[in-house]
Amino acid sequence: MKFKKFDFNASRRRLSAALTIEDLYKIAKRRTPKAAFDYTDGAAEGELSLNRARQAFQDVEFNPSILRRITSVDMSSDIMGGPSSLPFAIGPTGFTRLMHTEGEIAGASAAGAAGIPFTLSTLGTTSIEDVQAVNPHGRNWFQLYVMKDREISYALTERAAAAGFDTLFFTVDTPVAGRGCGISATASLFRRS
Ligand SMILES: Cc1cc2nc3c(=O)[nH]c(=O)nc-3n(C[C@H](O)[C@H](O)[C@H](O)COP(=O)(O)O)c2cc1C
Repeated sequence: MKFKKFDFNASRRRLSAALTIEDLYKIAKRRTPKAAFDYTDGAAEGELSLNRARQAFQDVEFNPSILRRITSVDMSSDIMGGPSSLPFAIGPTGFTRLMHTEGEIAGASAAGAAGIPFTLSTLGTTSIEDVQAVNPHGRNWFQLYVMKDREISYALTERAAAAGFDTLFFTVDTPVAGRGCGISATASLFRRS
């Protein structure tokens, strides 16, 4: 029997003991202020679409391939006309530094290290240029909520393009925010503080 070496870094110790997303969820819940946790965890109204999305992922069953050469496994794919070492990217989240102080800096660095794209939200809490600085060789994407004042949207888009962001996402499902969904929950959070 071999004992694991004690890791003096408490975060690393906690994270390496987590086996599932549910384990990470429990760690986050214990350590995050309630309002910030609820903003991140909650969904609109009765949370039907959230539960359906979770169910859809639970219904996916991997079909294991056996007796194959696995010395080098390549999961890279082409997403939005460019390479990604895994078939997914980090999606945009508003107010990311509310969830964790490192926010987009952590997300963009991790995406760069993993070779996957990182998406900065219009409601992000780190500037376009700072995201580019921590992920200078990786792919950065910019998500746009189109403002009534179009000049603001054009200016943000031009800044993202100038910083080398290669993909622009339009979020089109928020002409009306659901009650209790991210945006309205955040707005009320800020009003209270
Ligand atoms: C806390 C939180 C904040 C989000 N903020 C944004 C945002 O600012 N802009 C946006 O386009 N989508 C935002 N989304 C939507 C996500 O990018 C993503 O599309 C959505 O959560 C569905 O993916 P999922 O099923 O993996 O959660 C947010 C989602 C969450 C949970």
